[in-house]
Amino acid sequence: MAKSDLSKLVRLIPSPQAWVGTVLQDFETFLQDHASAEKKASGMALSMASHYPDRLDLVNAMVDLAVEELNHYREVMRILLGRKIVPSADRKDAYVTQMNKQVRKDAGYFLLDRLLVAGIIERRGAERFGLVAEHITDQALKKFYAAITASEERHWQLFVELAWQHCPAEEIQPRFNQLAAYENHLVSTLPVTASLH
Ligand SMILES: [Fe+2]
Ligand SMILES: [Fe+2]
Repeated sequence: MAKSDLSKLVRLIPSPQAWVGTVLQDFETFLQDHASAEKKASGMALSMASHYPDRLDLVNAMVDLAVEELNHYREVMRILLGRKIVPSADRKDAYVTQMNKQVRKDAGYFLLDRLLVAGIIERRGAERFGLVAEHITDQALKKFYAAITASEERHWQLFVELAWQHCPAEEIQPRFNQLAAYENHLVSTLPVTASLH
């Protein structure tokens, strides 16, 4: 599966219709959660880099990603602080917890599952930031969320490309589709709140 074959991977179902309205109605809470999500994404990239020191392209990609996510964190924090919003404590993210539970622990699957779960989480993020960009009226925020969307879109593709480079080719598409089906079920059952997940 070459880069151009990413289109063969199953698409995620759209987020529940109520999601974007719920977010826009309580945008302060969303911003607080968004800041936490970026910070955690940066930490996740660093933990991937630490876990696979001998896979140099992966380390390189994860170090770049950690910096990029930390830049997103800084940008969201500037928006929060500019609005005199007090950042919130990190909350437990049921969606991410459940997705991470899908990672099989045996060595033969661990990296594949970590990369694909990360890719699916990023893909959902891209979809949701895209909805915010589409529906928000504030022009500065619209521009900001469009840029975030483009960046998260690249990230999900990066994780799948890394899976392609480091894992058996024939396992990627079936496992991605299996995890995507699980994710689809998860987003349709979790409560809709003014948060990223
Ligand atoms: Fe990000
Ligand atoms: Fe990301």
